Amino acid sequence: MKDAIDEAKKLKEEVIRKIEEATKTDSDEEKNKIISELKSKYLKEKLPEMFKIIPQTKEVEQKKLLGKILNEIKEIIETKSKEIEEQKKIEFKLPDITLDGRTRFLGATHPVSEVMRQIKKIFEKMGFEVEDGPEVEGDWYNFTALNIPPDHPARDMQDTFYLEDNRLLRTHTSPVQIRAMEKRRGKIPIKIIAPGRVFRRDWDATHSPVFHQVEGLYVDKKVRMSDLFGVLEFFFKKFFSEDVKVRFRPSYFPFTEPSAEVDVSCSICKGENKSCKVCKGSGFLEVAGCGMVHPEVFRSVQYTDVQGFAFGMGVERLTMIKYNIDDIRLLFGSNFTFFKRRYF
Ligand code: PHE
Repeated sequence: MKDAIDEAKKLKEEVIRKIEEATKTDSDEEKNKIISELKSKYLKEKLPEMFKIIPQTKEVEQKKLLGKILNEIKEIIETKSKEIEEQKKIEFKLPDITLDGRTRFLGATHPVSEVMRQIKKIFEKMGFEVEDGPEVEGDWYNFTALNIPPDHPARDMQDTFYLEDNRLLRTHTSPVQIRAMEKRRGKIPIKIIAPGRVFRRDWDATHSPVFHQVEGLYVDKKVRMSDLFGVLEFFFKKFFSEDVKVRFRPSYFPFTEPSAEVDVSCSICKGENKSCKVCKGSGFLEVAGCGMVHPEVFRSVQYTDVQGFAFGMGVERLTMIKYNIDDIRLLFGSNFTFFKRRYF
């Protein structure tokens, strides 16, 4: 038993020595090392071992003495290590000003907004003014004045969002043609584009209930279909690239006659891959509708002795083709990985 007491005394001295060492050193690293050794080796291993000897001791006095020394050691380690911890100097690390700064993601222009900007820029270069119109329209502007008869499928509940009092969310930007002409009361020339949001009851990989169109209208004394073709061809070459092929296919719209659908050559396969998923092997993609303004439309706004052309293009479609995006829903979601990609 005497041995145990001697051993405890030795242990106490050892602990005191280590604590002195930790107090003296200037290095926080060294302090940490000693404290963690005291805690792990002494507090958790050596002391519990020694405490186990107490119950085996027969003499009461010796029992007490051993317990006293061991408790002292425990107390010393606990209080002193706390003191040393507090003593540690607060480290001030100066930043390394030669390092590159960390840039935070501040958001980015939405691809559709960017494409809108590009479209406006090209048409402004050709002398077109930007015109605005309301998103909530009446039947007159969205349908009737555009020579869309009451039984036309576009008027169907399936396609159009109807509001109260015969109002509706415009299904295309064509109503701005009517508003622009009414506003000018017969004054020509009119050379406008009308970019904006439109609404239809659709929702799949290529259709969204909210999307964007850019309408174009040119009215003058003499406007030919070749003017229309020239303007659109110029636009698509500037928008995509000089080598894009533009194709006009006969089509039908109630407010233009003759009418055409505009296709551009597939930017993915350049018309060389018969199994291209984007153009389905046709080599062309439909991007707009156009035509010569229908006489009935001029009659609605009381314009006489004029000619004109109009076109309407889908902005999401142009964005998807230009930046190779395969699902329109990505453009209306909030997937940050998608928006952080560099598009332009
Ligand atoms: N408004 C038509 C559409 O939404 C597009 C179009 C506009 C066609 C102007 C011809 C002239 O499909």
